[in-house]
Amino acid sequence: KTIYTGAFAHCVALADMEIVEQGAIAVDEQGVIRFVEQEVDVEDVRKRYEGWGDAKVVSVKDGFFFPGFIDTHTHAPQHPNTGLFGKTTLLDWLDKYTFPMESSFSSLDKASRIYTNFVSRTLSHGTTTCAYYATRHVEATNLLADICLARGQRALVGRVCMDTLSPEYYRDESVESAVRDSKACIDYARSIDAEGSIVRPIITPRFAPSCTAPCLTGLGKLAQETDAFVQTHVSENTSEVALVKKLFPNSESYTHVYDEASLLTPKTILAHAIHLSVEERKLVKERGSKISHCPASNTALTSGCCRVRELLNEGITIGLGTDVSGGFSPSILEEARHAIWTSRFVAMGNPAAAASSLNNAAKLSTAEALYLATRGGAAVVGLEDRVGGFEVGKEFDAQMIRLGSVPEEGDNEGVFGEDGAGGPVDLFGFESAEEKVEKWVYSGDDRNCVAVWVRGRLVHKTPRYTA
Ligand code: GUN
Ligand code: FE
Repeated sequence: KTIYTGAFAHCVALADMEIVEQGAIAVDEQGVIRFVEQEVDVEDVRKRYEGWGDAKVVSVKDGFFFPGFIDTHTHAPQHPNTGLFGKTTLLDWLDKYTFPMESSFSSLDKASRIYTNFVSRTLSHGTTTCAYYATRHVEATNLLADICLARGQRALVGRVCMDTLSPEYYRDESVESAVRDSKACIDYARSIDAEGSIVRPIITPRFAPSCTAPCLTGLGKLAQETDAFVQTHVSENTSEVALVKKLFPNSESYTHVYDEASLLTPKTILAHAIHLSVEERKLVKERGSKISHCPASNTALTSGCCRVRELLNEGITIGLGTDVSGGFSPSILEEARHAIWTSRFVAMGNPAAAASSLNNAAKLSTAEALYLATRGGAAVVGLEDRVGGFEVGKEFDAQMIRLGSVPEEGDNEGVFGEDGAGGPVDLFGFESAEEKVEKWVYSGDDRNCVAVWVRGRLVHKTPRYTA
């Protein structure tokens, strides 16, 4: 049993962040939050509850506890390509960088090295839940599930399906093999974690252009039979949208292609969704499918600026996705920054309105971006009852954030190591608790994330973590 004391912050609703300066969160042996107190004395908390007198106390100094981040869309095998995209756009980027890299995951040795590294990397940035695309290789996909389970990171792990319009050297041989191999990965994930409390399978048609209609239909049927999650890409790039129109001439829209295959369910995560029509957004909402907003990737591949405010106003559930390696950072904190930035580009899109308060509506606030990074993401991956905030009954998925200052004597050692020293966030003593969070969002990074827990289990720590 552990009581976490000190400041904590979490997002209660889209634009409502709660910050408690002297709080306590008590977590039982199962990792479940048993009580949450505000403005308390630690000793008092220990005494107040029977059976908690000998609980371990973990205190945060010069910082705060924050819910673990949820990455609703990323590609683990593309990790080695991070930062490599040049001036490509989606379709030539796939051919030039992505397919060659992914095909090399026929090597289990390579898969082991890259996946171990990537899971460590995302954990170090405070990502406690991640929706992963693997590759089309069954064994390597299962290995990713093993690694997530062993490291204790909650994960949706998907074997990528692609039976057409992909290179000869990297595609599923047939509809039957695509469905069979997907089923094998679902069975495997469920065999290593029957309750799905850490690892769950996710059916992953890459995107409509790389799947034949029978393949999509087969996967839709598999989703129904297995009640598994589904993830895919939709309406990311205008050339891709045109290609889908050509490949599926009888479908009303890109989104309808998925719907006709019964792939739009409340357990479906659609990445990007930049160029959706009003009718498509209506369909997404009707089906209860969720959207992963990937702003860093959308700018890197010049795919477009997703108008997130419109989606939010329509009541669609949205989370953030790093989309490595379309996106160039494994950090959801950085993604939150990009989401805020993109919302400003949307606001500036109409120069006349940009200067007025009219277009302020498009802008995301820090609190809203952090909501998408935590509670929004939790709803996208079906964990809204378990994680995303600090409430009694939820499981303790959290990160300890420490702020501070660079030593002024030129001794930079303390920046990364010594107790009490900060990461990149400089504090000058005047900041309110709200301002500390703002500063963290805009200038913080993984050096500020000194410890990470999933279900109360410590899954990552740095030398600056002192319990
Ligand atoms: N569309 C199909 N495959 C991919 C991929 O790997 N990354 C992105 N960003 N979009 C895709
Ligand atoms: Fe992607």
